[in-house]
Amino acid sequence: MKIGIVGGALQGMEAVFLSNKAGFETLVIDRKDSAPALSISDTHEVLDVVKDSEKAKAMLSDCDVVMPALEEMDALIALDEMMQGLEIPFLFDLASYNISSSKERSNSIMSELGVPIPKPWPECGFPAIVKPSSQSGSIGVSAVNSKEEMDAALKVVEDLNDTPVVQEFVSGKSVSIEVIGNGTSATSFKTTEVILDSNYDCKMVLCEPNVLPKEDNDIFAEIGKKVAEGIGLKALMDVEAIYTKKGLRVLEIDARIPSQTPAAVWAATNINILEELAFSSVGKSTGRVGRNDCSSYEHYIIEDGNLRTCGEKVFGKIKEPRMEQRFFGADEAITDYAPGKDVWRATVMNRGKDPADVLERRKSFIRNVMDECGLDEYIDRSPRMV
Ligand SMILES: Nc1ncnc2c1ncn2[C@@H]1O[C@H](COP(=O)(O)OP(=O)(O)O)[C@@H](O)[C@H]1O
Ligand SMILES: [Mg+2]
Repeated sequence: MKIGIVGGALQGMEAVFLSNKAGFETLVIDRKDSAPALSISDTHEVLDVVKDSEKAKAMLSDCDVVMPALEEMDALIALDEMMQGLEIPFLFDLASYNISSSKERSNSIMSELGVPIPKPWPECGFPAIVKPSSQSGSIGVSAVNSKEEMDAALKVVEDLNDTPVVQEFVSGKSVSIEVIGNGTSATSFKTTEVILDSNYDCKMVLCEPNVLPKEDNDIFAEIGKKVAEGIGLKALMDVEAIYTKKGLRVLEIDARIPSQTPAAVWAATNINILEELAFSSVGKSTGRVGRNDCSSYEHYIIEDGNLRTCGEKVFGKIKEPRMEQRFFGADEAITDYAPGKDVWRATVMNRGKDPADVLERRKSFIRNVMDECGLDEYIDRSPRMV
């Protein structure tokens, strides 16, 4: 099976990693020759799919499935049109993406479906969250405690030319779940916990059977299925929620391949969401029964003689990475390490029978890197409490 992946940044690296684990041959197309997924793919092409759609079409016609791994609307629309003329499964659903890329639209659908979301303003009062409806990656998101802060936050959204979504500030564990739909019915996969760095960027994902109590885990899976079936999802989406004392509150849905969480799910369970999606697109099943193990997935940067955990945005600046196994003792890695290098990055995955086992393996990786590279300090920053 040959997969054409369009976009070679974080989502592209995720798609190549998973494709590789599924035994697929990969072709990555990106308009930038510095895109990090190019070096881990089997073949690649530096090409703008909007400007050079004829060439892109010719290259993609040679694939068995095609998946976009980017979030630029003009490229997604160009690909969607291009794929309509080809008899090749397109692992993307533009109509669902159009819903999920607007928090206004998706919140209103989720409310109608009875999905628990944070209370809207003004009902919620302070503290509140102000966020732009159509951005991603925490751009323009503010927590506000007063009328003055609210006005400043609204100005930020206005400057982004976007519509604000103002809602209750909720706190608790951040959790995520992937869902695959075929247009009529949908299946939810595993819940993961998402842990943020000091810039509110995701630095670690944990996949463990007990991220949520059984009852809430079932509710989360049911929410994912209900929303996917409600919007007629014909591909993959993820649902992000916060597990508050009052239960789950859904922050957003995103109908595209996420980065990080599918690899963590694969490391823990051997269920490969990209493989599941590729099979489901041709009406087949992989027949895989998952393991119930645990995993951690995290990003590191080695700089200034220190080993520091970092968010995926910092990791995303990696150049010409490769995939490794048993990397300083860790099970899986994507890295640009070379002996003697001063600055390098790594995404590292560890699996284990239980969370304690995973923690031991993480510590052992940290010790190995510190010792072998003669580093001074291990730094792990978290968000300041609001
Ligand atoms: N209602 C909320 N209460 C508390 N934190 C929130 C709320 N909404 C969003 N956040 C936080 O803001 C960040 C981005 O929000 P999200 O809704 O996921 O938008 P996006 O990822 O598309 O930028 C996340 O870290 C999330 O935890
Ligand atoms: Mg988000």
